[in-house]
Amino acid sequence: MGILDRLSLKGKKIYVTGGAQGLGKSMATALAEAGADLAIVDINGEKATAAAKEIADATGQQVIAIKTDVTDPQAVTEMVDEVVAKLGGLDVAFNNAGMSLRIPAEKMAYKDWLRVVDLNLNSVFLCSQAAGRHMLKQGKGSIVNTASMSAHIANRPQPQSSYNATKGGVLQLSQSLAIEWAKRGVRVNTISPGYMGTDMTLKSPDLQPLIKQWEAWSPLGRMGRPDELQGIAVYLASDASSFSTGDDYLIDGGFTQV
Ligand SMILES: NC(=O)c1ccc[n+]([C@@H]2O[C@H](COP(=O)([O-])OP(=O)(O)OC[C@H]3O[C@@H](n4cnc5c(N)ncnc54)[C@H](O)[C@@H]3O)[C@@H](O)[C@H]2O)c1
Repeated sequence: MGILDRLSLKGKKIYVTGGAQGLGKSMATALAEAGADLAIVDINGEKATAAAKEIADATGQQVIAIKTDVTDPQAVTEMVDEVVAKLGGLDVAFNNAGMSLRIPAEKMAYKDWLRVVDLNLNSVFLCSQAAGRHMLKQGKGSIVNTASMSAHIANRPQPQSSYNATKGGVLQLSQSLAIEWAKRGVRVNTISPGYMGTDMTLKSPDLQPLIKQWEAWSPLGRMGRPDELQGIAVYLASDASSFSTGDDYLIDGGFTQV
């Protein structure tokens, strides 16, 4: 089978959390373009429905929206059951929903710390566990978790210890699951983006003065576009990545190399 056939996602059933906008929506669009049927999973039900319709109209694939808070263990189990029931299976899980708070560590309220840990790390465990249980039963599956270059570096000058710690956790969690499940057909990998132009960065007023600084530090001199993660998303969802597990794909325009 040629490489383009192995990259095809025809017949694959995939969910993407945080798929209503930003990196999740962009990766979801690429997955549908490559032939997958999709569930857009997001806490924002209206935006998820709009994104699902837009992607379905553009690609002709089956794309459903599921409103879910991925920090709720019961809701996550129900979400995976709904994906399996409505799409007819689950082959690939993208656990991508995340958030960032930029608060100096000495001023951070514990409840804020917990919010970040709950969404960025605990939800990735819950979703990987629920999707993993299904995939282990069928003896096959691919899980792709969104980490960050912040799993590798402590960003500056903005204070974001909670974000960096959780993304480091996502990396180590994903590698641990990959080892546990390698012989049972379930692969687990991470994508670690550098600074990307999404609501998380472009719509945060406190970050606007910093963007020029980040761009000056970047070898490419700019932030990434969400579509620049589409290739790796399709690769990791596809059978072309059959030798990739426990691997981290750092896509940051060289930011962490300088
Ligand atoms: N933008 C960047 O520069 C950048 C860089 C590296 C990593 N990342 C990571 O990429 C992922 C996506 O980031 P983005 O920039 O697209 O963010 P974004 O803020 O644009 O989108 C996040 C999405 O997650 C959804 N969401 C939030 N809480 C949720 C919950 N409890 N349950 C379900 N959905 C929920 C939101 O409604 C939103 O649609 C995150 O994990 C982020 O940490 C982003």
